Amino acid sequence: MKGSYLPQPAVASTTRSKKLGFLQLLGCFSIGALFFFWDHLASPSYSSLVSSKKNKFQKCAIDTYLATGLEFLKTAERPPLEEYILRRNNLAKALVADEVDAFVVEPGYTFSYYANVTQPQWEVWEPEERPFLMVIQPHELPNGSIVANTSFLVPHFEELRAQLLNMPFPSPISTIIYEEHWNYYTTLRNASIWPSNTPSPILMIDEEMRDFIPRGLATADFTVVGLKGETEAVRQVKTPLEIGILRAVNTGTVEAIRAMRKCIPYGLTENDVAEVLDNTLRAAGMEPFFDIVEFGESAALPHGGYDGTKKLEEGDFVLIDVGAHLFGYSSDVCRTFYPPQFSLEEVDGDGKGKGKRNITQQLEVWDVVLAAQSASVKAMQTNATAASVDIAARDIITQAGYGAQFTHRLGHSLGIKAHESPYLNKGNTGVRLRPGMVFTSEPGVYVLGEFGVRHEDILVVGEEGEEAENISGGFAKSAWEP
Ligand SMILES: *[C@@H]1O[C@H](CO)[C@@H](O)[C@H](O)[C@H]1NC(C)=O
Ligand SMILES: *[C@@H]1O[C@H](CO)[C@@H](O)[C@H](O)[C@H]1NC(C)=O
Ligand SMILES: *[C@@H]1O[C@H](CO)[C@@H](O)[C@H](O)[C@H]1NC(C)=O
Ligand SMILES: *[C@@H]1O[C@H](CO)[C@@H](O)[C@H](O)[C@H]1NC(C)=O
Ligand SMILES: *[C@@H]1O[C@H](CO)[C@@H](O)[C@H](O)[C@H]1NC(C)=O
Ligand SMILES: *[C@@H]1O[C@H](CO)[C@@H](O)[C@H](O)[C@H]1NC(C)=O
Ligand SMILES: *[C@@H]1O[C@H](CO)[C@@H](O)[C@H](O)[C@H]1NC(C)=O
Repeated sequence: MKGSYLPQPAVASTTRSKKLGFLQLLGCFSIGALFFFWDHLASPSYSSLVSSKKNKFQKCAIDTYLATGLEFLKTAERPPLEEYILRRNNLAKALVADEVDAFVVEPGYTFSYYANVTQPQWEVWEPEERPFLMVIQPHELPNGSIVANTSFLVPHFEELRAQLLNMPFPSPISTIIYEEHWNYYTTLRNASIWPSNTPSPILMIDEEMRDFIPRGLATADFTVVGLKGETEAVRQVKTPLEIGILRAVNTGTVEAIRAMRKCIPYGLTENDVAEVLDNTLRAAGMEPFFDIVEFGESAALPHGGYDGTKKLEEGDFVLIDVGAHLFGYSSDVCRTFYPPQFSLEEVDGDGKGKGKRNITQQLEVWDVVLAAQSASVKAMQTNATAASVDIAARDIITQAGYGAQFTHRLGHSLGIKAHESPYLNKGNTGVRLRPGMVFTSEPGVYVLGEFGVRHEDILVVGEEGEEAENISGGFAKSAWEP
């Protein structure tokens, strides 16, 4: 699951600071200094106590994490040129199967999947109104193999900038240029890349293309169709290299939670813990991009919502759902646990701990959610429907009496985005799983006003008859061994 994103710092802050005049800067510094001294004079002991507790916690978390040796990073390799050629050739074969003449894409996630350029890498400030399109066509070699033939529609004055992107192609990119006063859709139609006997070439696009472009293409004798069929499945079925990176980043994220948990003290806030976990992940070279940390009743909201200032108390379940990036790939895992210093010996006959939470019920739900997650592994078979996997997990939770408190779908695919299709929900009866698809399995139970439990791991669909493989370091074993 995924919640708030961290802001993109670099560009925004430089632009802002350039706009600050000297006087404004001086003003900021004096006000900042005033707050700094006020804070320290007013309550010196409290704030320094918290910060030394947090520093100790962070040092322990990072040291514990580094002591694992970070072996999990070994399965990850930055995608080389050959990987991009493989992806485009897979796409070319899919286009033939779908009887489509070309796939057309704007800078964004899909563009970066096929040619390593994201939207902000092409246009840092805001999406550009002049289309820069990658056009991938299938091409049949004399021996019958289908390979991709790629061209780029680009404004003339941007042609060199496009070449300087050094996109992963074995030879210089082939461009179709337009001047500012031209109709660029007609320019594309008039280019020599279309066979002369094709009346209205069929172009497939995906959801990342802004709507004015397909409307423009349709005016220039193109037939535009939406993403579907074999073409949609290309990005859904992960290559071995992608699975290696996903295994590394997801195992590394679970290991960071495990290391951090060993050091977590009572009394720090959810925000403090999120900050420490983020810095722990960074110690392995991964960059966190969302982090949901919730104690006790906060966790009844699956995507957060409170302000993160709740402090950790005895008997609180800690729910952490976090994602980080490695070589452009996402992790998305969740653990629910007690801190190591919380022991069942403190729980009375009614199942209540000192914090007055019903520990018996919390542990019962923890087990039910794990049983649901295990059921999803068995159901996640090649050619099963996406719906059937959700239903297998949901049935377990419903039988335990918590069906109404499992309020979201079982999971989603993930890759360069944390949330990718297909989606595992009980209505998705039309999609069948294929070997190499990668999914989260993240059942949860949310008791409003009290607590929430979710376990989230990453699974790869195997060949026919094989069980799905977990690639996030193994499931949680107990609330003390997440
Ligand atoms: C993809 O882009 C990244 C930077 O964004 C670069 O470090 C990497 O070398 C590129 N990959 C290839 C195969 O060109
Ligand atoms: C067809 O030719 C290409 C280029 O020469 C080669 O890479 C590919 O392996 C060949 N495919 C088959 C099936 O022989
Ligand atoms: C199309 O291309 C031909 C030459 O290939 C050129 O004469 C003609 O003006 C072009 N038309 C448009 C609308 O760009
Ligand atoms: C790609 O298409 C262009 C234009 O039709 C053609 O000149 C070129 O030979 C093709 N390249 C490959 C590798 O098919
Ligand atoms: C605590 O939860 C357990 C399991 O759901 C339940 O049987 C028990 O009655 C609860 N205790 C209290 C004091 O509510
Ligand atoms: C997948 O299941 C459907 C429905 O049971 C069946 O028609 C189809 O042949 C199966 N496909 C494979 C590849 O097993
Ligand atoms: C997960 O994968 C590991 C390593 O392949 C395996 O030992 C373990 O049994 C798997 N299952 C669970 C539920 O963790």
